[in-house]
Amino acid sequence: MNLIKWIDLPCILDERGALVPIEGGITIPFDIRRVYFLHGVMRGGARGFHAHFTLHQLMVCIGGSCRVLLDNGRDRSEVILDRADRGLLIPNMVWHEMYDFSDNTVLLLLASEHYSESDYIRDYDQFRDISRAK
Ligand code: TYD
Repeated sequence: MNLIKWIDLPCILDERGALVPIEGGITIPFDIRRVYFLHGVMRGGARGFHAHFTLHQLMVCIGGSCRVLLDNGRDRSEVILDRADRGLLIPNMVWHEMYDFSDNTVLLLLASEHYSESDYIRDYDQFRDISRAK
């Protein structure tokens, strides 16, 4: 099963450069309650390594590149993020890992909920057991 779901983002191009608007509930299939970004990831560094019970996210690589592994407890897919004009959907109950960051990579995350540590599953075996029980 291919877990990779892209959302093509509108890109308004003119002689001054590009503008990419993202509107909650319109461009992406959820309202946006939180925005955060990852930057300054050290060479060889990795992020993620968790899933969420309820959170939906869109991940956009607005500079540089990295690889992302998605895992639903049964299938795994890997993808390269290197474009600012499309986002990768990370639904709830999908384990995700980000790695192979190039220098100066910036990952923008649009999230459907406020931050809640209790929504995280940080243990892979627990995640696999929960997802396979469904
Ligand atoms: P985490 O989600 O584990 O980061 P990553 O997925 O990039 O590896 O979060 C790292 C730390 O930051 C953790 O202590 C929780 C905190 N945090 C917040 O306080 N607010 C947020 O919106 C996020 C995403 C994380």
